[in-house]
Amino acid sequence: MERLDKFLCDCGIGTRSQVKAILKAGRVTVDGIPERDNGRKIDPNTQEIALDGEILQAFGTVVVMLNKPAGFVTATADEKEKTVMELLPEEYRHLDLKPVGRLDKQTEGLLLFTNDGDLLHRLISPKKEVPKIYYARHEGTATQEDVQAFSAGLTLADGTACLPAVLEPIGPGESMVTVCEGKYHQVRRMLASRHLPVTYLERRQEGKLTLGDLPRGQVRRLTEAEVDALDHWQVV
Ligand code: URA
Repeated sequence: MERLDKFLCDCGIGTRSQVKAILKAGRVTVDGIPERDNGRKIDPNTQEIALDGEILQAFGTVVVMLNKPAGFVTATADEKEKTVMELLPEEYRHLDLKPVGRLDKQTEGLLLFTNDGDLLHRLISPKKEVPKIYYARHEGTATQEDVQAFSAGLTLADGTACLPAVLEPIGPGESMVTVCEGKYHQVRRMLASRHLPVTYLERRQEGKLTLGDLPRGQVRRLTEAEVDALDHWQVV
């Protein structure tokens, strides 16, 4: 059983307040009978919910991947800055999607959104330890000592201890970094602690999920198989 207003939001018919107004206007029926109570408990598997006579179906769990450009903050709203929500096309706007974790304003690359609160919490849980892979350009060139310091677990300038991570130098001033946690400005601070300040950062992978050929600024919905793999990434 779930609340009627949540079901209607999950169907993409509007925001919570729009749904409230639609209900108030008597446009929604449950098994053919008009229902105005937004807190009414319904079972969408056995009951027929209709809007203006048209039977509705909820989207269920939706996970969307964005290739985030620089210049947008990861927040659902912000008074001064442009947010990643502005990059979602119209058809995703009413799904109550929330960003999964965060990327800094200047960081680009893979950012997921979901409308499924339980999935969101599982994905950002430190217990889950989903590996995230970043491409970084930085000043200086990483050495084997830096690689060892990452794998031993770095201590940041403010004393914060990091879990062991993988640093892979790929050229002068360029490295790949894999971390399993999401502390504030983590990759930037880790590299800075080794005197390798970051000039560009892009997340390329989360678990087994990669950006693929998704262009910068574009979004796509994950397939059911991809969502499943994301939630069970440890089970090969
Ligand atoms: N680490 C950072 O420093 N920034 C991000 O956006 C993500 C990881």
